[in-house]
Amino acid sequence: MEDFKSNPDFQGITPFRSKVWLSSPTMHGEEQWWVDQAIQSNWVSTVGENIDEIERVMAEILGVKHAVALSAGTAALHLATKLAGEKLYGQARPDRGVLWNRKVFCSDLTFDASINPVAYEDGEAVFIDTEYDTWNMSPAALEKAFEQYPETRLIVLAHLYGTPGKMEEIKKIADEHDALIVEDAAESLGAKYKLNGQWVETGTLGRYNAVSFNGNKIITGSSGGMFFTDSREDADKVRKWSTQSREAAPWYQHEEIGYNYRMSNIVAGIVRGQIPYLQEHIEQKKEIYRRYQEGLKDLPVSMNPFDVSRSQPNFWLSCMLIDEAAMAMHCRGEKEELWIHESGKASPGEILDALAAFGAEGRPIWKPMHMQPVYRTNPFVTAAGNGRGRSNAYIRGTGVDVGADIFRRGLCLPSDNKMTAGQQEVVIDIIHRCFR
Ligand SMILES: Cc1ncc(COP(=O)(O)O)c(C=O)c1O
Repeated sequence: MEDFKSNPDFQGITPFRSKVWLSSPTMHGEEQWWVDQAIQSNWVSTVGENIDEIERVMAEILGVKHAVALSAGTAALHLATKLAGEKLYGQARPDRGVLWNRKVFCSDLTFDASINPVAYEDGEAVFIDTEYDTWNMSPAALEKAFEQYPETRLIVLAHLYGTPGKMEEIKKIADEHDALIVEDAAESLGAKYKLNGQWVETGTLGRYNAVSFNGNKIITGSSGGMFFTDSREDADKVRKWSTQSREAAPWYQHEEIGYNYRMSNIVAGIVRGQIPYLQEHIEQKKEIYRRYQEGLKDLPVSMNPFDVSRSQPNFWLSCMLIDEAAMAMHCRGEKEELWIHESGKASPGEILDALAAFGAEGRPIWKPMHMQPVYRTNPFVTAAGNGRGRSNAYIRGTGVDVGADIFRRGLCLPSDNKMTAGQQEVVIDIIHRCFR
């Protein structure tokens, strides 16, 4: 790694005394109180008042009928995906996933936890390319995927970095093909979307929906997640599956495969203390985004975009995209990378290394799922059709892969809501110096 501290371009920048995080937990005090209540009353288990209360309040905030508190967003997504598979294709044998031999259309530019449950259930993820307007699933690519695989009935999609995708278009396409949606709102809790003229919360836009309370999310329980649905019967099923699928018998009797996925009452206590601060955290993150927008406007870069008229992101992570003409050389292998400084240009690798050298944490954009070694043989569909096997040694410019392009030119900026305006000024200054 280059020694930025002795580089004259970075002269005068002093390293941060305490690390500036990408996004770290922000505690307020009430969390401790609710955790203490759980311990004092000895409800130190996966049952208790904190769990009941956060299920009630979260359902109310989102405007959905039922919420089930689970051990992680990943657990919520697994049970959401399994439930959708069971609705569509019926119960599976205990040794076989419900999506066995089925294809599922999945967001491509996301964390793998969004779509791994498809594989847990023996299904095949078909990755749908991204669009530039919101960095989420492209409706045009989804249409192409239905042309290619018309029998597909399930869509799993995420809202990247807290920015809602084009849900009106996607829901219309899903309805036309009688397909169900599993919505991964892990990163977008509190974000709103205008659906058919009405503002609704992300986490309510699919048939089955999930959020995460992981330590880096907009509010946290240290871990944890939640499943949302309007169906009482489906919520009961998820609650049953999450507690080992026990039947009403004096002994442990099992008609179905179960999981140990329920949230702990201790974790729920932390979530309970955080919920009143959701809006405050969103406002802080929004201000961080605004300051970056202002501070970076003279550089050849743009911020992660959103549809102003139809969405209100929660601004969980601020990101930037370097203009193609200002991209310096940056090569990524499977696990290592190499970048070269070029005058007037910069690359995500250079900027992230420079920030790290002074004690600030950024992160590359999620590497698209269709590029991941584990999913390299899965189908991938772009707005132009099949995204696999399109390159050709003898023809230039064969096909656009939007996700790969955003991964190549983009990066997540330090977005911690405890970052001060002064610290952010230094972050912005470091980014400017990378372009010298
Ligand atoms: C888009 C997305 N989906 C799913 C998850 C998984 O959530 P959890 O860590 O709570 O299992 C995360 C984050 O962790 C995420 O960012």
